[in-house]
Amino acid sequence: MKAPKLHAVALAAALSALAAGASAQVNVTIDAAKPGAVINKDVYGQFAEHLGAGIYGGLWVGPDSKIPNTRGWRNDVVGALRDLHVPLVRWPGGCFADEYHWRDGIGARDKRPVKVNTNWGGVPENNAVGTHEFFDLVGQLGADAYVNANLGTGTPQEASEWLEYMTSEGKSTLAQLRAKNGHPAPFKVSYYAIGNEAWGCGGNMRPAYYADLYRHWTSFIKAPAGVKPKMLASGGQGEETIWTDVLSRELKGMTDGITHHYYTLPTSDWKVKGAATGFPEAEWFSTMERTLKMEGFIRDNVAILDKNDPEKKIAFDPDEWGTWYDVEPGTNPGFLYQRNTLRDAVVAALNFNIFHAHADRVRMTAIAQMVNVLQAMILTDNGKMVLTPTYWAYKMYVPFQNATSLPVTLANNTTYGMNGKGVPGISASAARGADGKTYIALVNANPKDATEVAVNVAGGNVGAVRGQILTADAMDAQNTFEHKDVVKPAPFSATAAGGKLTIKVPAKSIIVVAAE
Ligand code: AHR
Repeated sequence: MKAPKLHAVALAAALSALAAGASAQVNVTIDAAKPGAVINKDVYGQFAEHLGAGIYGGLWVGPDSKIPNTRGWRNDVVGALRDLHVPLVRWPGGCFADEYHWRDGIGARDKRPVKVNTNWGGVPENNAVGTHEFFDLVGQLGADAYVNANLGTGTPQEASEWLEYMTSEGKSTLAQLRAKNGHPAPFKVSYYAIGNEAWGCGGNMRPAYYADLYRHWTSFIKAPAGVKPKMLASGGQGEETIWTDVLSRELKGMTDGITHHYYTLPTSDWKVKGAATGFPEAEWFSTMERTLKMEGFIRDNVAILDKNDPEKKIAFDPDEWGTWYDVEPGTNPGFLYQRNTLRDAVVAALNFNIFHAHADRVRMTAIAQMVNVLQAMILTDNGKMVLTPTYWAYKMYVPFQNATSLPVTLANNTTYGMNGKGVPGISASAARGADGKTYIALVNANPKDATEVAVNVAGGNVGAVRGQILTADAMDAQNTFEHKDVVKPAPFSATAAGGKLTIKVPAKSIIVVAAE
């Protein structure tokens, strides 16, 4: 593993400067004349699994519910997600995907079989949400569909027939069955993954064995050009590079992307991960330190892809990422319900900036998960709903969807340090939006000290910037059902003085502005 490390001498100097109360001015230079890769909108994708109240209750209440809904999907939650411009939804898992049989989820809902969700709480799964309901959801959201096929307990025939059921036109029996079930027109599948976490819940496989299965299965996944989705191979996790190496060598010409999973735990211990709220500063720091490892993980895997796939045909797609804390006390441990604070919003923004910097290879990601599970956008309690700080981070970054990344260099960055360790204080990203404006994102990972940032756009003067800021008084500030607006973006602007634009970035804050 090669996580980002600061040179020891530089770190010591930075830490002692901070201890002495020195306040450095960070220089951020944006090279507008050298546009980079387009930040694919799918980098802002989200994951919705049959897990806890992630779908049932949080998104789906059924058409007969008193909670206002459209064909079973909650109007409040879908409306809020629509405002986020969610570009892509991954479904039905996760671990759940490898025990999901698509024929259980079509036809009359009251005739569908009831199974046990063995991965998540052992609760009954009545299959009320199946293929048609999922496509209704993405249609209501205006999103694209990422469907994860069952490799673990499925068959190549089942995966091939599911794709045919979803996408085929004409007179085939499966197309007619889809029409009989209410949808004569084909659905559009943007991504189709073969299995999930093949190294773990997806079958405890080794990379070479999975690669052979992928080759076998995809030989039978057929669809006409223009209809066939991007095919995804399920890759490794964390610092691992072996999966990317084996899959990119063995699946040349057969895969459009290799996925990757990395969860940010405040500790490195899956038994005691750390609390979502009421945590000490040491856990704010370790969360920042651990989430920033994503940069090194992407760099190391991309280096392998650059060697095995210099034509850049294979994307590197982290399709599960985000914070994972100890579950909220009193909730079902199998439901992965956790609160969401300003810390989560900062984690999201730091990861966005990392993804932007690798936009040529990172073409899709999916945060885990959309509603009520892990690092969620939205939490619900029966008919109530609250938007989390992570929701607002996604909202502020909407202009980066399909924007053209611009190179950013930071000089004289501050270091946020604790116990002899340090992380860069400021993270920055910039892009030329679809509207032609230059967007700048600044994140201060330091929960105590504001930092002055001098912004310089090479090849052009910036007279002023205008946008939004997200911050709060407490590190663990959260929105609750009673107090929904504790963490919410506020207007932010700054004007150049003497030809120089300086932005004071408050402690633990995210700023997204457009240059004027
Ligand atoms: O997101 C929760 C679970 O985490 C997913 O089902 C699985 O793929 C991962 O281990």
